[in-house]
Amino acid sequence: MNLKGRHFLTLKDYSAEEINYFLDLAAVLKEVKKAGTDTTGLLRGKNVALIFEKTSTRTRCSFEVAAHDLGMGTTYLDPDGSQIGKKESIADTANVLGRMFDGIEYRGYGQEIVEELAANAGVPVWNGLTNEYHPTQMLADMLTAREYFGDVKGLKFVYMGDARYNMGNSLMIVCSKLGLHFTACAPKKYFPNAELVEQCKQWAKESGGSITLTEDVEFASKGAHIVYTDVWVSMGEPDEVWTERINDLSPYKVTMDVMNRAESNAIFMHCLPAFHDKKTKIGKEMGDRFGFEDMEVTDEVFQKYAKPVFDEAENRMHTIKAVMAATLGIDIGKVKTLQV
Ligand code: CP
Ligand code: NVA
Repeated sequence: MNLKGRHFLTLKDYSAEEINYFLDLAAVLKEVKKAGTDTTGLLRGKNVALIFEKTSTRTRCSFEVAAHDLGMGTTYLDPDGSQIGKKESIADTANVLGRMFDGIEYRGYGQEIVEELAANAGVPVWNGLTNEYHPTQMLADMLTAREYFGDVKGLKFVYMGDARYNMGNSLMIVCSKLGLHFTACAPKKYFPNAELVEQCKQWAKESGGSITLTEDVEFASKGAHIVYTDVWVSMGEPDEVWTERINDLSPYKVTMDVMNRAESNAIFMHCLPAFHDKKTKIGKEMGDRFGFEDMEVTDEVFQKYAKPVFDEAENRMHTIKAVMAATLGIDIGKVKTLQV
């Protein structure tokens, strides 16, 4: 499997074999990290640029730690600290950074921005989240699912909440490629767009998976192996949408009732950050305003399933490391030679 030089913009561009290869590589990288193996020789002397036009905890830290573990230098460009978009076009930025760096991560707004960056950079570009997709998160989610269930093929995966944004779209794509039974459970207006649904149905047909869209929480959660949710209002969305979102999505909160209808070995997952209590500024503000203790998931569910959720967060680092390694020319064989 040779993924050297490839961009990583959306999993639409990757086959099931390639996605599974990233997961295999991530699992090996995780194993060698746990064993304390020095991997800094793998990409020593290379440098990556990390552009964040939106904030981040997991994605930024994952790219930085992973790059350092591989021996690479990193430069972080924060939402205000560069010329990008304000004084310099994306194409010009890509041309400049592509001459200095061996790879570029971009987190920001429209998917067309990361695509323009990729078209002009001349080095691999990795999507660290756009409004439409969050592909690095998918690898962490599937690695976690593998760790809990072995083979992910045939699992019933239920996504509750805003299914037409980055998380809903990307989960539907990865599930359809890897043969999971994906259910989006939300009010109709939050279903993913029809064109993407059709495309994913095709992939699901080939992989043995399926795509279901439903407004019925009881039907969706019955027999689920993985119940997944995300915040109801995403980064970059205006404050004015909160009232409507809370009214529309409250029936789709992940509660113990939902989990009790799932399989007995089911897990709850969340890309994080999560509003499961009032211990955050926004959680408190919205909680006080709308009379809530939590939002997309109850604290009871969150605490009960904290282990898989934080495993998933840790796996962001191992999988992002795999994406950088593979697209910069490191294969599984090379990593395995480091194992004692
Ligand atoms: N899940 C995720 O992307 O988290 P961050 O926003 O903290 O990077
Ligand atoms: N949908 C969320 C995902 C955060 C990881 C957002 O875009 O803010």
